[in-house]
Amino acid sequence: MKIVWLSVTIMFVLWFAVMAIARPAAPASITAHESAAGAAELFSRNCAKCHGKDGRAKGIKARTTGTRNLTDAQWQDRVSDERIFNAISNGKGRMPAFGKKLSESEVDSLVQYVRGLKK
Ligand code: HEC
Repeated sequence: MKIVWLSVTIMFVLWFAVMAIARPAAPASITAHESAAGAAELFSRNCAKCHGKDGRAKGIKARTTGTRNLTDAQWQDRVSDERIFNAISNGKGRMPAFGKKLSESEVDSLVQYVRGLKK
């Protein structure tokens, strides 16, 4: 009887330990993963037709409209996150504004995505 009681106690202790370790880690990693996938999806749906899937703006249409190569390291170093944010929400030159179409947090996630394109 003593052994049964002991193993039940151990099971409970282990269960609580596992929950304590697993709980805080799980939601954070899921959120990070989802927002990265979401930004890639947003980029390919709204931006890739001009900037290209990889952001290089290599197509004929891109070259004739002066579309920015988003992977350009020199440009990346020059611009602030605010400027990228404003270009996306207000538009710039021949680039349309996305401020009405996308939420502020979607534009934010695109700023981070554009930063990740730096070569
Ligand atoms: C219709 C074509 C088109 C679409 C769609 C488009 N862009 Fe652009 N983008 C341009 C052009 C053209 C420029 C260059 C504007 C200029 O500097 O005059 C540009 C410039 C930029 C810049 C640089 C702004 C700066 O201040 O240097 C960023 C960042 C950018 N685009 C991101 C995006 C993102 C993110 C999306 C999708 C939400 C997107 N673009 C959709 C055409 C487009």
